[in-house]
Amino acid sequence: MIYTIGGIKGGSGKTTIATNLAVFLASKKRDVLLVDADDQESATDFTAFRNQALEGVLDYTAVKITGSDLNGQVKRLSEKYDDIIIDVGGRDTVNQRSALTVSHVALFPFAARSFDIWTLNKVNALLNEVLPFNPSLLSFTFINKADSRGNHKDDAAELLKSSDKLIFLDTPLGNRIAFGNAAAEGLGIIELRPLDEKAVTEFKELWKGIEKALKNKKQK
Ligand SMILES: Nc1ncnc2c1ncn2[C@@H]1O[C@H](COP(=O)(O)OP(=O)(O)OP(=O)(O)O)[C@@H](O)[C@H]1O
Ligand SMILES: [Mg+2]
Repeated sequence: MIYTIGGIKGGSGKTTIATNLAVFLASKKRDVLLVDADDQESATDFTAFRNQALEGVLDYTAVKITGSDLNGQVKRLSEKYDDIIIDVGGRDTVNQRSALTVSHVALFPFAARSFDIWTLNKVNALLNEVLPFNPSLLSFTFINKADSRGNHKDDAAELLKSSDKLIFLDTPLGNRIAFGNAAAEGLGIIELRPLDEKAVTEFKELWKGIEKALKNKKQK
C-alpha cells in the first residue's frame, strides 16, 4: 500500500503521523519505506535521530525523493516494499500532487483551528485535480491536536464531514505531548516510555478506521 500524508497547511501533523505510521507498521513486521518528499527534511531528521537511538538497527528504510518523477520512482519502489509512506510538505503542491497520483490512500490531518480548516477547500481542489489520474484513491481526513475543551473540534468535524472527496474519521488524535517527546528521541509513541496510553489508543483507533474502510473497499 502507498500512503500519502498530505494537506495544504503547515504544521498540521503530517510528519508526526507519517513517522508514527512507519514505526507502527514496521512493528507489525511489515517492510516499510518512508519517503521524505519535503525539502524541510523533517522525516529524514527523524530517521537520523532514530538511527542513533536504535544504534543503527533501523526497522524501516528511508529515502528522500522530490520532483516530477516522484510518482514514477515510488511506483518502481512499491514492488520492493509492503508499505510506502510519503511525507509531503504543507505548502508545496508539486510533490504532493505527484505523490497523490500514485497512492492508494491519502491522509489529511487537520488541526481544529480556523486557519487550518479554511484550507479544506484547497485540499478538495487538489483532489479534484488528482482524482482523474487516480480514481481509486481513498482519501481520509481527521482532526489532529484536538483540544478536549471547547467546541472547536465539533465545528471542525462538521466542516470536514461536508467534503464529498474525503472520508471523515471520527477518531481524533488529541493534543498530546507524547508526540513531541517521542519525536525528540527518534521514537514513535508506541515506543515511548512511560507509555502515553491515551495517545497510543487514539492512534490505534485511527488506524482501525482506515483498515476497516480498506477492507470494505476490497470486498466491493
Ligand atoms: N497530536 C499531536 N499532539 C501534540 N503535538 C502534535 C501532534 N501532532 C503534531 N504535533 C506537533 O506539532 C508540530 C508540527 O507537527 P509536524 O511537524 O508533524 O507537522 P507537519 O504538518 O509535518 O508540518 P510541515 O507542514 O511544516 O511539514 C510538531 O511540533 C509536532 O510535535
Ligand atoms: Mg512535515
